[in-house]
Amino acid sequence: MNHLPNLFSPLKIKTMELSNRAVMPPMGTNLGNADGTVSEANLAYLKRRARGGPGLIITEISAVHPSGVAINSELGAYDDRFIPGLKKLADVAQTAGCKVALQLHHAGRESLYLLKEGKAIAPSPIRSLVFGLTPREITRDEIQEIIAAFGAAALRAREAGFDAVEVHGAHGYLLTQFLSILCNQREDEYSGNLSNRSRFMVEVLQEVRRRVGRDFPVSLRLSVEECIKEGYSVEDMQSILPNLVKAGADLIHASLGTHGSPGGITSAPGEYEPGFNAWRAKKVKEVVDVPVIAVGRFSDPVLADEVISRGEADLVAFGRQFLADPDFLIKMREGRPQEIRKCIACNQGCIERLILGEGKIRCAINPETGQETVYPQGPAAVLRKVWIVGAGPAGLTAAYEAARLGHEVTLFEKEEKSGGQLRFACQPPFKTSYGEWGNWLTFQVKKMGVTIHTNKAVTDGLIEGGNPEAVILAMGGEKIIPEIEGIGLPLVCDAWQILSGEVVPQANAVVVGGGLIGMETADFLSQKGTQVTLVETLKRSPVLKITSHGYMLHTRLRDKNCKLLFNTVVKRIAESSVTILSGGEEQTLSPVDQVVIAVGLKPRDDWQHILQTKGIRCIIIGDARQPRRIIEATEEGAQAAWSL
Ligand SMILES: Cc1cc2nc3c(=O)[nH]c(=O)nc-3n(C[C@H](O)[C@H](O)[C@H](O)COP(=O)(O)OP(=O)(O)OC[C@H]3O[C@@H](n4cnc5c(N)ncnc54)[C@H](O)[C@@H]3O)c2cc1C
Ligand SMILES: Cc1cc2nc3c(=O)[nH]c(=O)nc-3n(C[C@H](O)[C@H](O)[C@H](O)COP(=O)(O)O)c2cc1C
Repeated sequence: MNHLPNLFSPLKIKTMELSNRAVMPPMGTNLGNADGTVSEANLAYLKRRARGGPGLIITEISAVHPSGVAINSELGAYDDRFIPGLKKLADVAQTAGCKVALQLHHAGRESLYLLKEGKAIAPSPIRSLVFGLTPREITRDEIQEIIAAFGAAALRAREAGFDAVEVHGAHGYLLTQFLSILCNQREDEYSGNLSNRSRFMVEVLQEVRRRVGRDFPVSLRLSVEECIKEGYSVEDMQSILPNLVKAGADLIHASLGTHGSPGGITSAPGEYEPGFNAWRAKKVKEVVDVPVIAVGRFSDPVLADEVISRGEADLVAFGRQFLADPDFLIKMREGRPQEIRKCIACNQGCIERLILGEGKIRCAINPETGQETVYPQGPAAVLRKVWIVGAGPAGLTAAYEAARLGHEVTLFEKEEKSGGQLRFACQPPFKTSYGEWGNWLTFQVKKMGVTIHTNKAVTDGLIEGGNPEAVILAMGGEKIIPEIEGIGLPLVCDAWQILSGEVVPQANAVVVGGGLIGMETADFLSQKGTQVTLVETLKRSPVLKITSHGYMLHTRLRDKNCKLLFNTVVKRIAESSVTILSGGEEQTLSPVDQVVIAVGLKPRDDWQHILQTKGIRCIIIGDARQPRRIIEATEEGAQAAWSL
């Protein structure tokens, strides 16, 4: 048993008695029904997390007014018709022993769907940094209407049985837009100095308090710093915080940044240390005497316990960690911390999937997330003898899921170690968590009784002799070797040889290929002191700056003076130079003492056909099917196991 005396201690906030100080912060899921009502998927998702035992769950953004809906399926709190669904949502959390708060939200200008329809409103008609479209200015009458709507929605939450509400004053939504000089250039009493710009937030809190009564807890979520050039600072926020508490906030949830802040800092990528934002919670505590929640890359309950013990915060929120492993608090309490599946902060299945409009919430490393209603509980109706070829993310996930459902699983890996591409993906700066996740998966798979044969390449004959009932092919993609004059010269190697340490970085390298592998290899080399020129035939890198890791990667390469040449083709490699073709002109890069090929992978086409002719059911998954990302590999691994 591991008690963690600070994290696992109770706390009373007004009428609400929390059994511990671990908070699940609000996370939009896109699981709601199209009309904004609570769906079965919402309930199943929340129930799964409530079972994990946080003291407080703050549910996802819920719109207080139709003019502030961020996405069509955002949960609604702007009409009484939403109350029955919200009641069910509160019930699932409370039945599991958690307290639950509803997050009250108005998107303001940060609603692509309303922006496109010309209906988004904001303090001033200033272009959204996230979506690049301009809202219209909210009228003074509408301001009063929205303030009243926050109060009415808070009352609905109370009627639905919630233990508290949280006013969403963070992340660049309407309340932050009023607070920010960058978005608020009105000419009335809601703009001008900071005190005036906070008036809207103050009036919202006063109205919420008026409607819910004195004893009902009200949390205020704030971006304690705007984290944007010329945006408001921590000190600015400190100057208005006492007034916000006076207006009705019983709890401050100390988040940071906006969705327009560079590098996706609100759900920070791996470049940020676990708990990196706790100092801002401490700054809040310096000026208010209500409890404060720290948030930002907490995965480890021990760190959370320390933050509370140091007096930096009273509670700690674990966001993406609840997506990666809803049972992590239980595992900690039971003295099994090594079993916690730690979030790798990749953002693929969660925040970036939602922002890029790719679908409902998922988690790249936990295939159950967002699929709770269809996740098979097992054991499977028919138990099968299954062989899995390849122990990368796809094969390991398939093995984990198949073993969990009771199948007899044998996993073959041709290399000495499992992990597949993760063994290389964890080498560039800030990516160690990818390797840790690979080790976690391998450990779990072994613990579940899967037989793993490493150093064993599966061949056709082996499969025939073993007589499996099904074979899952997860051998990864095949490296592409481009046809370039001089490709066979000794100065040429590939990205995998560099990342594995097989080939030592030299002083001047040309990386051929500007996809993720090329960019990360350039990052790795730059970190070792190599002067890198990266050559890519496409007009721009497929690594998008809109993703948080992509932004950080581009920024790092720029800061390290790495030369990125797009729209450029490598024509020829010589002993100490590379000839490129750019804009119709040939140029010679020299001196060059290393050429690193990173032009990607292609699908495997050598297996499925053979197995089919032998009558063994085979499923091809992950990069072997089509080189993509981890999320596709794990998704297909899980689906393959579920379909056996
Ligand atoms: C440097 C680098 C950085 C990356 N960064 C990211 C990232 O940040 N985010 C992201 O989403 N993706 C990233 N990727 C891509 C990601 O790692 C892959 O998409 C993912 O690993 C694919 O998983 P997989 O299991 O399908 O294949 P792989 O990971 O390639 O695993 C296949 C396994 O099969 C084994 N194998 C092959 N043939 C046989 C055989 N005949 N018998 C037995 N075993 C066999 C291989 O040895 C290997 O271990 C990165 C890749 C690299 C190289
Ligand atoms: C998928 C996803 C959806 C989110 N939706 C919300 C939301 O509805 N309201 C909110 O205030 N914050 C939202 N956030 C931010 C989280 O509450 C949290 O502050 C952030 O992820 C940082 O915490 P973490 O590092 O522990 O994940 C969301 C984050 C993610 C990953």
